[in-house]
Amino acid sequence: MGPSSDTGTSLKSVFWGTFVHSTCNEAVQVLEDTAVGVDHEGKIVFIKTGEDVQRVSQEVGFNAADVKQLGKHEFFMPGMVDAHIHASQYSFTGTALDLPLLEWLNTYTFPVEAQFEDPEFAKKIYSQVVRRTLRNGTTTACYFATIYTETTLLLAEIADRVGQRALVGKVCMDRNDGASYYKESTEESMRETDKFITQLLGKGYPLVSPIITPRFAPSCTSPLLEFLGKTAKNNDIHVQSHISENRDEVNLVQQLFPDCKSYTDVYLKHGLLSRKTVMAHACYLSDKELEIFHKTGASIAHCPNSNISLCSGMLDVSRVMKHKVKIGLGTDVAGGYAPSMLDAIRRAIDTSKALTILDPKHQTLTFQEVFRLATLGGSQALSLDDQIGNFAVGKNFDALLVNVSVPDGPIDICNEEDPKVILEKFLNLGDDRNIVEVYVAGRRVVPFDNTS
Ligand code: GUN
Ligand code: FE
Repeated sequence: MGPSSDTGTSLKSVFWGTFVHSTCNEAVQVLEDTAVGVDHEGKIVFIKTGEDVQRVSQEVGFNAADVKQLGKHEFFMPGMVDAHIHASQYSFTGTALDLPLLEWLNTYTFPVEAQFEDPEFAKKIYSQVVRRTLRNGTTTACYFATIYTETTLLLAEIADRVGQRALVGKVCMDRNDGASYYKESTEESMRETDKFITQLLGKGYPLVSPIITPRFAPSCTSPLLEFLGKTAKNNDIHVQSHISENRDEVNLVQQLFPDCKSYTDVYLKHGLLSRKTVMAHACYLSDKELEIFHKTGASIAHCPNSNISLCSGMLDVSRVMKHKVKIGLGTDVAGGYAPSMLDAIRRAIDTSKALTILDPKHQTLTFQEVFRLATLGGSQALSLDDQIGNFAVGKNFDALLVNVSVPDGPIDICNEEDPKVILEKFLNLGDDRNIVEVYVAGRRVVPFDNTS
């Protein structure tokens, strides 16, 4: 007989030790000597702090022997949320960073994405990206795939099987002057989007949902954008795209949509901004545009590695937060050269410090705030914060078991260090060697089961 809890649902696991997470009021909250119970559906059913194992086990009704006790240099943190990543660009991650956005798309990106019509190629790359990001602690990924419906469904299938929570988008683009071999007709894009949503919802994957994905305003005509806005509304479904990443792109949007007041106005007018919308980059938004984000509940995925790598810009996160706009972090692979969210955390701090160098009055982000962006912030940006983002009763147990002193690891613990210092060392120095286990909805998905 497995353990059972006082809630009546049967317990699957109990974890005991140090938990580090964010709340709305506290960027880093440390819960030491804490027990977290998880049920068979992967939901957290209790969190008890500072009591002894025997007492809690009697009160809640589990066997003390079933408890997983953490070691001295171990802690749990929430799984990280990559709010913007192109699964279809994974094959050239770490290369091709010498051109600005619009040339980079034409020269490197579209030729690679066009290869995803081939299911064998797609299967190989999508398996690699899901496994690579999951072992680096991305428990939720918001993916762009390509224009091809069949292989985009394959990405969803792989994420579900390997056990990563994901939003998966079939890319829509009915305009592409720079690479006309890689686009759809307007009707095709509409039809395939309907088909993609119906088929993916029909699979009933517990962890994977569709997200409507106009690539960005320059690659979509007005009728397509309007259709996608209506489809998002009718199905109450997520939307993702890019906005205001680079100055040439912003100018191009003004030329292509002369009737719109701003880049944000293009998406607003086509019904694409809601609390389920996440827009990547947003480097050059005006105060008025940020107000529209706040009013509609749309969010921003800050992609600092990509912003620097393609010389796109530097987003002022403090300004976004002052406007009370939801914000998370994205790797933006392969505009960003690293698939790990730990890198996104470091680059977000670097960008904030660069802004402080340019203007000493700039409020530099702390590591605590950036930790929150990578976890709770990302869950809010994707409107999934009722399900994931931190440790709370009723939420899913999406978590990383971190050990900062694994043998031959990248971190040395030199003194008896406080848990906040240990977290800071992990965020700045750690890598996947320190992420010894990954859980999604209570299921341990890393180390990998070789069958997945
Ligand atoms: N804007 C439109 N498409 C893309 C893309 O693939 N990557 C980035 N970084 N920006 C884009
Ligand atoms: Fe992107």
